[in-house]
Amino acid sequence: MKNILITGGAGFIGSNFVKRMLEKHPEYKIINVDALTYAGNLENLKDIDHNKNYTFIKADIRDREKIREIFNTYDIDSVVNFAAESHVDRSIEEPEVFLTTNIIGTQTLLDAAKNHWKINPNDKYCRDYKAGVKFLQVSTDEVYGALGETGMFVETMPLMPNSPYSASKASADMIVRAYNETFGLPVNITRCSNNYGAYQFPEKLIPLMINNCLNEKELPVYGDGMQIRDWLHVKDHCSAIDTVLHKGEDGEVYNIGGNNEKANIEIVKLIIDTVREKISSVIARSESDVAISDMSLQGAKRHSNLQPDTSNSEPQTVSKPQTTNHEPNLINYQLIKYVKDRPGHDKRYAIDNTKITTELGWEPKYTFEQGIKETIQWYLDNTEWIDNIVSGDYIKYYEKMYSNRG
Ligand SMILES: NC(=O)c1ccc[n+]([C@@H]2O[C@H](COP(=O)([O-])OP(=O)(O)OC[C@H]3O[C@@H](n4cnc5c(N)ncnc54)[C@H](O)[C@@H]3O)[C@@H](O)[C@H]2O)c1
Repeated sequence: MKNILITGGAGFIGSNFVKRMLEKHPEYKIINVDALTYAGNLENLKDIDHNKNYTFIKADIRDREKIREIFNTYDIDSVVNFAAESHVDRSIEEPEVFLTTNIIGTQTLLDAAKNHWKINPNDKYCRDYKAGVKFLQVSTDEVYGALGETGMFVETMPLMPNSPYSASKASADMIVRAYNETFGLPVNITRCSNNYGAYQFPEKLIPLMINNCLNEKELPVYGDGMQIRDWLHVKDHCSAIDTVLHKGEDGEVYNIGGNNEKANIEIVKLIIDTVREKISSVIARSESDVAISDMSLQGAKRHSNLQPDTSNSEPQTVSKPQTTNHEPNLINYQLIKYVKDRPGHDKRYAIDNTKITTELGWEPKYTFEQGIKETIQWYLDNTEWIDNIVSGDYIKYYEKMYSNRG
């Protein structure tokens, strides 16, 4: 394995995965293909942009000619397909693009892989492929539908998707399976629970709530907020995909979950409490730094031969002074606004991850408590990243970085 095509690598999970692969596997070449829809943000990748093992190509996975050309030019031997329309609410408003990107886009990639990898290009029914090739489809636990109060999703369950988004992902899973059964293409499918972590587009629950807390805006919660999801840190998801890519048995499906079932309303309350706590402590630190700095100025004045050290007069422990503009007491449960539930809203998801843990030896590293604190801190430290999305400035990044490159 050496030339890995990562699609959707400018999105939330894809960008975390691109960075992981460059760091953990410096011998690999990473080719990131992303159409840069509203959800693609190259700012997520600016720290690796000049890595010699990294290439970005703006392209649509539905563009057959372009995808074929990319396979040939870069001699792709592995695909990790993240590219998708991923937001359930948008799929209810506009299902069609979900079907074309998530299903036809996946099939376009499968065809390109099949044609590029088969040993005998002239044999229509050739089932022999170059050694070490693999197509990994990144799917979701939502393809299984909803659970009642008990039970967990296992890989052998029938697919019963309930939203246009999950139906399109289930269809993609079916077509990936069919390419394995019919053409013998080496594939894996991973089905993961809800991810959280840095660089998630702020339309999704956790970054949306953090951003609204910071702006003291209402926190919209669907229905009674009692929908239960399993939550997994994005870095744990990326390490699981890396494991499946290298160790997964051909044709197998692997569930990936974090053993962290939480009701949405619990998450929202935890975010409110954590944001308030963090802002209060930033303010307290900044006030005490100012007080210390005042004291040291006075002390220095008493010792006329000493120069006052004013370097500490700025509160250096405060990474983002703008967080001190907030009034922590206004960040409270009164911000929660229960709104009409999403149609077809699944009540509960829970993942049984026994297969990947026992057969491939993967385990999540983050506890939810540690992961969510770090995640909230990341959004507090990177308010500019969110501001650029809210203002639309992130879209200009491609022009700025790539318009003058050959
Ligand atoms: N976020 C989650 O909690 C979660 C959980 C389980 C599975 N997944 C799956 O993981 C994958 C990535 O999810 P995410 O949250 O990072 O999504 P995202 O919306 O943040 O990113 C999707 C990326 O795909 C790109 N893209 C969209 N249409 C494209 C097209 N036609 N051609 C090329 N690129 C295109 C976008 O520009 C974007 O960069 C998706 O397949 C999703 O179904 C996500």
